[in-house]
Amino acid sequence: MTTINIKPGEKLQLSFDTTTTVQFNVVSDVADPPVVVPPQPPTTVDPNAPLRALAAARGLIYGAASGWQFLHDDVYAPVFAKECGLLVPESELKMVPIRPSATTFKWSGVDWLLGFAQQHGMLFRGHTLIWHLALPDWFNSVNAGNAEQTMRTHVEGCCNHFKGKVHSWDVCNEVVMPADGRADGLRNSKWMQLMGPDYIDKAFRLAHAADPDALLVLNQDRLEFDGTMGKDCRKHTLALLRRLVDAKVPVHALGIESHLNLDPGKFDAELFRRFLADVASLGLKIFITELDVADKPYPADVATRDRLVADLYHDYLEVCLEQPAVTTVITWGLSDKYTWIAEQRPRDDKQAVRPLPLDASMAKKPAYETLRMLLS
Ligand code: G3I
Repeated sequence: MTTINIKPGEKLQLSFDTTTTVQFNVVSDVADPPVVVPPQPPTTVDPNAPLRALAAARGLIYGAASGWQFLHDDVYAPVFAKECGLLVPESELKMVPIRPSATTFKWSGVDWLLGFAQQHGMLFRGHTLIWHLALPDWFNSVNAGNAEQTMRTHVEGCCNHFKGKVHSWDVCNEVVMPADGRADGLRNSKWMQLMGPDYIDKAFRLAHAADPDALLVLNQDRLEFDGTMGKDCRKHTLALLRRLVDAKVPVHALGIESHLNLDPGKFDAELFRRFLADVASLGLKIFITELDVADKPYPADVATRDRLVADLYHDYLEVCLEQPAVTTVITWGLSDKYTWIAEQRPRDDKQAVRPLPLDASMAKKPAYETLRMLLS
């Protein structure tokens, strides 16, 4: 069968043999209408893309903490740069390393980290301005008479030095500690003793005045815990945030540290979902700032342990990422090779701990695959 398409009025000269069947199709002489390409779904990111790219495609940020020395590891550094869209100094921007005296600053270590972040197109987080730990020896001489000036010197010094270069600051760190017995559930830290509870307000106002473009974060631990400790921390943190927002203190986000130190099955998703919604209702963003899973309660077998750690990453982050106010996920390290948990929360069986997305040889673990799935 031969098919000949002809347009109206078109003249053809044909010769036939007796064996051929010919079919004529009269076709429109109007140019075919352009093929309308239906709107393409957003370009899906390559599922093998690094975590930073998957997160960015969803309008999220994924990053990790690192110490200066770890990024001088030629195996670790390139993997960190590939996977992380944000870098937060694990210790180099605390008071001890940067404040040799009450009147001086030392930026060398943390400026190297800022340079690493800028070189690899990463955001940079300031951790942390006001904390009850990592205080230099000279801080013992701070008193009620000079505490406010000490805070001003520190906050303005840091925020001026990094002005326009930080994504966000943990302005106050771990200020809620119900076990200290205060009615407001706040920690009875030296800052509290010397300046009273509005030391928190003052720190945020000083930071905002020095760097109006930085997101200012109240960073808190133990909010994920079940039981009385977690319940009280969530209650007092919410009350503090409400007070700060009502007083028009420039706080922009709650940082939920997320050091998940939980027995299997102890994470109460519904309760935590409600807490996130309560924080979001104040108009605040929520950052997951120090995520890792202490595997101390889990069996020694590595495959079993990795699965249980990944399951908790999943159960926890699934709830977090359902909440639109959650915009940033940061793990407290990237590889088991470098984790504070090895020293601070070692396993009773002395086995190497496995709290992070990559193992000590940079291989991806089930927790990495969980992050990839949830960030996509
Ligand atoms: O840099 C000095 C080194 O010069 C000295 O020789 C050595 C002697 O011990 O100490 C080194 O400093 C250590 C620092 O980490 C850097 O490695 C400090 O002793 C050590 O206390 C410090 O631990 C850090 C801890 O915060 C206290 O700052 C951990 O690495 C860090 O993971 C941990 O992170 C905290 C967050 O900031 C807040 N949320 C909880 C989280 C875990 O505790």
